[in-house]
Amino acid sequence: MNAVPNELILAPSLLAGNHAALGASLAEIACAGLAWAHIDIMDGHFVPNISFGPKTVADLRPLATLHFDTHLMLAEPHKYIEAFARAGANGLTIHIEPQYPHRDTLRAIRALGLKSGIALNPGTPPEAVRDLLADADLVLAMTVHPGFGGQHFIGSVVEKIAALARWRVEGGHSYRIEVDGGIAADTALACRRAGADTLVAGTSFFKAADKPAFAAAILGK
Ligand code: DX5
Ligand code: ZN
Repeated sequence: MNAVPNELILAPSLLAGNHAALGASLAEIACAGLAWAHIDIMDGHFVPNISFGPKTVADLRPLATLHFDTHLMLAEPHKYIEAFARAGANGLTIHIEPQYPHRDTLRAIRALGLKSGIALNPGTPPEAVRDLLADADLVLAMTVHPGFGGQHFIGSVVEKIAALARWRVEGGHSYRIEVDGGIAADTALACRRAGADTLVAGTSFFKAADKPAFAAAILGK
């Protein structure tokens, strides 16, 4: 059974880039031959850290044609969907844990012409998003507790990836399965084997001296 219908993608996370020169960090992603940049948005409420806002995304937009895979770690993401769409995000991923209208927000993201994503913290069971899968273009299984880069990969999430991959086949869905946090060559392989097709890497990508070689290793090329 081929449970991975989507092309494998590596999306480096700008959180580990240079926040005073994000344009240069974007250029490093493009120069490595990659098509996606992962942009972490944090509000200091849903997660205990603060990162970028819509103006950051808007100012980065003219600098690259990369797909902006925008991860909203916000307590009230539904209030900011239009702002990030206007700023030029290509995909918006919202979390299941806070209380707000999840399905309506996923549908609003699609109605704006963007890819919709639903994210789960490491401790959130996959069943929490099961009835939203038809409204999602991407399901993000966090492999660290969200808020900070440079943490250790939580191996128990691999079972959740496998469940999401199984449900994708059983339900005839084509959502991407993304993993985010502690991704390097070894952990990427475990995630890919379980069915993940979209790999976020922050620290490991920006630390790599030879980024095209790092990308090839992560993608198994
Ligand atoms: C964590 C963020 C991640 C983070 C990953 O809240 O969602 O995208 O940048 O960083 P690394 O790859 O360093 O674990
Ligand atoms: Zn992220």
